[in-house]
Amino acid sequence: MILKSDFPDKFIWGTATASFQIEGADAEDGKKPSIWTTFSHTPGRVRDGSNGDVACDHYHRYIEDVKLIKNLGTDAYRFSISWSRVLPDGNGKPNEKGLDFYDRLVDELLSNSITPFVTLYHWDLPQVLQDRFAGWESREIVDYFSDYSSLMFRRLGDRVQNWITLNEPFCSSHLSYLFGEHAPGMSDVKRSFNVAHNQLMAHGASVQAFRQENINGQIGLTNVSTWMEAASENQQDKMASFLANQFTNDWFYGTPVWGEYPKEAFSYLAENNLAPEIKDGDMELISTPFDFYGVNYYTRNIVRANPQSFMGLENIQGELEKTDMGWEIYPEGLENFLVMAYNNYGKKPIYITENGMAEKDFVENDQVHDPRRTKYLMDHFQATKNAMDKGVDMRGYFVWSLMDNFEWAFGYEKRFGLIYIDYENEQKRIPKDSYYELRKFLK
Ligand code: GCO
Repeated sequence: MILKSDFPDKFIWGTATASFQIEGADAEDGKKPSIWTTFSHTPGRVRDGSNGDVACDHYHRYIEDVKLIKNLGTDAYRFSISWSRVLPDGNGKPNEKGLDFYDRLVDELLSNSITPFVTLYHWDLPQVLQDRFAGWESREIVDYFSDYSSLMFRRLGDRVQNWITLNEPFCSSHLSYLFGEHAPGMSDVKRSFNVAHNQLMAHGASVQAFRQENINGQIGLTNVSTWMEAASENQQDKMASFLANQFTNDWFYGTPVWGEYPKEAFSYLAENNLAPEIKDGDMELISTPFDFYGVNYYTRNIVRANPQSFMGLENIQGELEKTDMGWEIYPEGLENFLVMAYNNYGKKPIYITENGMAEKDFVENDQVHDPRRTKYLMDHFQATKNAMDKGVDMRGYFVWSLMDNFEWAFGYEKRFGLIYIDYENEQKRIPKDSYYELRKFLK
C-alpha cells in the first residue's frame, strides 16, 4: 500500500479546479461573458443543456470551500482566473470587484496555510476578444494575453509564487477548433493549428512578462498527457501511434523546449497546406525558458493506422475497466508518460496538475460511496512514486477535482469531485468517501 511517507517531505499535495467550471456569478460584479458563456448558452452544445451561470456558486462560497480544503489536509490548491472577470473588455480598465475576488480567495488560502497555484488561462476567453479579432485565431491575442498576465502578476505576485500560463493548449485549440466540441465550436484543421501556434506564443509571452515583473516564484505550462500505444506490432500501427504522440504530446511539450515543431507531424501538415505560418521570432518566443511542466493525466489512447481518417490514424476502444467518461483506467500509462516526458521534454520538474476520475456518484444517507475513485487515486500515487524511482523530478500532485463541477460539453452529468455538489439543493457540498480516504492518507 502506498503511503504519504513514501514521498519526500517537500512533495506537494493538492486539488484543482477551473474558474468557469466552479465559480458561477457569470454576470455579476462587472464580469462579462466568456466564450464558454456564449457556447453553453447555444442550444445543442452542452449535453444536458446546462451552463456556468451558477455552477458550484464558488464565487459566493469560497470561504466554505477553503474550509473544506483545509479540512482535507492538502498543502496546495490550483485554481484559474477568469479573464473576463478581471478584464471585462479583454484589456484596458480592470474590474476592481473581479480582482478583489481573487485577492480575497488568495488571502483566505494563505491564512489557512494553503499554497495557491494559479492558472491564467483555463479556456474562458473573454467573448469580446472573440468578437473583436476572432480571439486565438489572431496574433493580436499574444499581446493581450501578456498584458492580462502582467496585470495578474502585479496584483497577486506578492502572495502567489506558483503560476501556470495555459491549461492544455491541445484542448483549447483542437477540441475547440478541430473537433468542434468546445467553445467556440469550429471544425477546421488549418485554423486549429494556427490557434495552437498563437497559444504557444502567448505562453512564451506570458513567461517573459513574469520575468519582467520580477516575481519571486516559478511559472510553468500544463498539458493534457495521453500515453499512446500502438494497436498492434505492425509497422503501420506503430507509425500511427508515433504520429499521434507527435501531434498531441510532442507538439505542446516538445516544441516549447526544442524550439521547433516535431518533424514528421509538421511535414504532414505542410504537405497538406495545413501548417501554421511561422514568422521570424515566433519559435524563439515559444521556447522562452520556463520552470516546470504540469501534467494532466487521465488515460491512454490505443492508436491504429487508418488511411481513411484524418492524419491516417484513429483511436480504438481498449479492454480495460473504464471511468464514467468511458476512459480506460491505466495507472501504468501515467508512470510511462512521466518517464517519457521527463527525458524527452527538457528534464523539467513536473507537477501532476490534474488526475482523477468521473464516477456515477449518488447520495445515500448524506454519504457518497466512491471506492473506485479512492483506488484510482492510490494507484496513480503509486505510479507517480514509480516514476520518481526511475529518476523523474516530481514535485507534486493535484487531484482533479476538489468538487463536482461543470464538465464542459458534458455539463453537470459527469462528476469528478472529491466533494459531491447537490445541484438540486442549493449546491450543497457533501464530501465523498474518497475525500475522507485522501484525508487519512495525508495525515
Ligand atoms: C482538462 C480540464 C478539466 C477537465 C478534466 C476532466 O484539463 O481537461 O483541465 O477542466 O474537467 O480534465 O475532463
